[in-house]
Parts: sequence; C-alpha cells; structure tokens
Amino acid sequence: MPGKSKNSLKKSLNYTNLLKTANILTIMKKILISGVKPTGRPHIGNYLGAMRQFVDLQHEYDTRIFVADFHALTSVQNKDELSQATLDVAMDYLAIGLDPEKMTIYKQSDVPEVTELTWVFNCLTTVPYLSRAHAFKDAEAKNKEINVGVFDYPILMAADILIHDANVVPVGLDQKQHIEIARDTAEKFNRIFGETFALPEPLILEETQTVPGTDGQKMSKSYNNTIPLFATNEEIKKAVMSIATDSLRPEEPKKTEGDTLYILHTLFTQGSDLEKIQDGYKNGGLGYKESKEILITHITNLITPLRERREEISKDVDLVKTILEKGGKKVESITHEKMEVVREKTGLK
Ligand code: ADP
Ligand code: TRP
Repeated sequence: MPGKSKNSLKKSLNYTNLLKTANILTIMKKILISGVKPTGRPHIGNYLGAMRQFVDLQHEYDTRIFVADFHALTSVQNKDELSQATLDVAMDYLAIGLDPEKMTIYKQSDVPEVTELTWVFNCLTTVPYLSRAHAFKDAEAKNKEINVGVFDYPILMAADILIHDANVVPVGLDQKQHIEIARDTAEKFNRIFGETFALPEPLILEETQTVPGTDGQKMSKSYNNTIPLFATNEEIKKAVMSIATDSLRPEEPKKTEGDTLYILHTLFTQGSDLEKIQDGYKNGGLGYKESKEILITHITNLITPLRERREEISKDVDLVKTILEKGGKKVESITHEKMEVVREKTGLK
C-alpha cells in the first residue's frame, strides 16, 4: 500500500529530524568539565563543594566528568592502588547519580592529547608565574620534595579544561586559582597564535565553597579530618563525635560564627531540627552531645542511600570499565580534532 509506506517514510523523516534537533540541542549546550583525583575515599566536602554540582547540572550542560589519574600520579605511585582508586572514583560518580547515558564519564589518561597540549602550554608558561601557585607554595613551605608533575599540575589542569573549550568548571574554592591559570593560559595562547580557546568560568557554590573538617580546617583527604561520602553509620558517628567543640555547658548560649558543628548543621540539618539547633545556640538549652546526635541523624539520612547505591554498583565492575572506555573514545574524537587545530596554528603540523 503506497499510502502506508508514505506514512512510515514521513514518520522516519520526522524521527530523523527529531534526532537532528536533539543533536543540535546538545551542540548548543554549554560545555561543563570537571574531575576528581583518585587519591582516596571522597568526603562530604568533595560532594557538597564539587560533585553534587556535577549531578545537578548534568542535563543543563554538555557534561564531561573525568577521573584525574594523571594528576594522581604526582602522589600515588603504586600500580594496584592507582588502578583500583581510578575505578573507585568512576563508581563514586555513578553512585551519586551521574547518568552516562546523558553525559560522559572518562579516564583522563585515556585522552593522551591532554599531555600533548600540556607540553605546548608549558612552552608558553614561565617558571616565576607557576611558582606563584598556592599548591606549589604550600608544598615548598612544608619543605616537601616536589616533583616536576606537582609544579606543572595547574598546566595539565588547564589542558584538561581548554582542550574541551569548556565554558564552566564546577569546583570547590581551593581550585579557583587553577581555573584562573587556565584562563590566563588560554588568553596567552590566543594572543600569540590567534583565537583558539574558550575562556572557562569556575562554578563555586558560596555556602559550600570550603566545607570544614572535623578539626575545623578545610575538610581534605590529606588532613585526616573527613566524613567519608560513603561512610558506614559507625564511621559517621565516630567522625561527628570527634568534632572539636568548646567547653560551654548545655544551658549557655553559644556563638555560631566559625563553629564547625554549627556550620555542618546548616549544610545537613533540616526542618524543625534546624530550628531547634538555631534556638539552642542563640538562647542556650542545647548541649553539644545532643547537637551532635541530631547531626548524625541528618548526615546518615543523606549518606545511606548513596552508600547502598555504591554497594550495588561495585558488584558490576565490568560495566564500570565499559562506561569509562566508551567515554574515553567519545572524548578522544573531540580532543583529537582540537589538537589538529592547535598543531595547525602552532606550526607543528
Ligand atoms: P582533597 O582536597 O580532599 O584531596 P580533591 O583535591 O580531590 O580533594 O578535590 C576534589 C573536588 O572537591 C575539587 O573540586 C575541590 O575543590 C573540592 N573540594 C575538596 N575539598 C573541599 C572542601 N572541604 N569543601 C569544598 N569543596 C572541596
Ligand atoms: N585539581 C583538581 C582537584 O584536585 C582535579 C582536576 C584535575 C580538575 N583536572 C581538572 C578539576 C580539571 C576540574 C577541571 O580536585
């Protein structure tokens, strides 16, 4: 029946148009890029400062999230540890709700063009400029032996971002300087070789830009002051109970400013419990023990479903590997094309 085949042709044409529109929409979306180093268990600071933004923004942006294993190599120099930690971060991404059907998850070292671009950028970057980077200065102040990878860390990060022409980079406050270095590097390249790279903007959430750890310093994998993102109930309890407090009695009012326990309440505690905490701090009548118990309940409510999902995902490691491989291939075709442009502009081609 000719009528029928005409109809089905029409249908398939519509379908093709729909697909085209969907592709154009993806192309029109702004590009989001970010990564986490596989250097240990993630904590609630990583989650609230950076990782939750990945999830919240994954539909709005063309989102590409990677496991920063090249960066981790500056400190993790053990084969099994690095490969396991890399898979772990990929599983963490899936557990918090990143959807590889809608965005891309990949492993940084599956995209070797970033190291090629790093070399090109290295040749435009001066030693005094990189010597002003906070992470390098901190390491120097601690008299640490510093490898060239640590010194060059911000330039590899600039390559990670710029090779995608990323528009936004969700991170915690400690990474702000690195995004500025990426912008400077893009501007310098563009000035010398002509307009090539987009300038990225950091996305930093004010409330959670620096989540405090149990000792009041910035929560960090390197300070032993974390509440792990996939902590067991016991671990949550232990971490919260160890939060440093002063020795005011329950009936006394307490100051909220700079108080770690209070700050964590504002991030986790909800509803009437939060009102109770606010009232207790202002007017007295609330001891730190009770306050900590309330915080434990709210952190546990957030973490339990994430931990359960993480446990499920860890049962299918092959699937996780496939997701990384697919993501790597997809990204490599993009980065390959961009490197061709860079080679052309610099005379390397
Ligand atoms: P760590 O400092 O614990 O080693 P990473 O360097 O792996 O953490 O950081 C991964 C992401 O989490 C980065 O975007 C970083 O800015 C963010 N981040 C790390 N610690 C915190 C924190 N305490 N508060 C807010 N964001 C954080
Ligand atoms: N330096 C980041 C961190 O310590 C990880 C990272 C590497 C990154 N390359 C990046 C983050 C590019 C955002 C964009 O957490």
